[in-house]
Amino acid sequence: MKEIHQHFSKIAQEYEDLRTTDIEPILYIKKKLENLTKIKGADIGCGGGRYDIELFNHIGNGFHLICIDYNENMLRKLDKNLREHNIKEFNTIRTSANILPLATNYFDVLVTFNAVHHFNLLDFLKESSRVLRNNSRLFIYTRLRSQNQRNIWGKFFPNFHNKEKRLFEINKLEETLKKVHYLILESIEYFTYKRKANLEWLVTQARKHHYSTFGLYSKKEFEESLKKFQLNIISHFKNPDKIIWKDENIMFNIKKCEG
Ligand SMILES: C[S@@+](CC[C@H](N)C(=O)[O-])C[C@H]1O[C@@H](n2cnc3c(N)ncnc32)[C@H](O)[C@@H]1O
Repeated sequence: MKEIHQHFSKIAQEYEDLRTTDIEPILYIKKKLENLTKIKGADIGCGGGRYDIELFNHIGNGFHLICIDYNENMLRKLDKNLREHNIKEFNTIRTSANILPLATNYFDVLVTFNAVHHFNLLDFLKESSRVLRNNSRLFIYTRLRSQNQRNIWGKFFPNFHNKEKRLFEINKLEETLKKVHYLILESIEYFTYKRKANLEWLVTQARKHHYSTFGLYSKKEFEESLKKFQLNIISHFKNPDKIIWKDENIMFNIKKCEG
């Protein structure tokens, strides 16, 4: 727990520049919320707020968001980011996703992007069920362990897939949901993105630990793996200036139904 928070403290300033922000999950959420005029939401594990800016851009009027993260540096960055985008309808709370200091039966929507694998899943889902209103939704955007194995890092960076044991598969979510009152998995949406980069950029991302998985390597192991990664890429792709691959993500659309 301590290591992961040190990682996010260090990376907070640069995080959003190192990761790609995709608009598709935002459009999906927007569509599911289109019947609501006033929306009280919370983003758990919000980081520097790159997805919150998009939520505000797309949902617009009547939307208020509580941005929650355990990491103070991330919340500071979020505050600055949202203000720079002239967004004022938000508050931040520094807390763990496992115990939410939020009112019961209050929220119209909860979202979490790329963060759920850092939470205690059962505690987080129980808290989500408590704070959501009846018939409201929790959207979990993440990547499965198997999706992680198929991306450029899982395929070519030695041990990346084996080290990243925190990501889960659909059955783990389904089993955990069964232990939580009132939450049902209404649907699952799959996202596939075509990516293009040069090797230099991929090396920069890895060196800056754009995925916290890299923090699970010792220094020596990381350097050796990075060298092998570069050799793997060069031998697999003809042109290291034009590396093309697919990233995959998943969205769980979960509804609170009291009966
Ligand atoms: C990979 S980042 C994703 C940030 C943001 N959602 C995004 O996609 O840009 C994960 C975030 O979850 C936060 N986090 C990790 N464990 C947490 C916990 N137990 N409770 C709340 N936030 C947590 C980290 O501080 C970090 O900001």
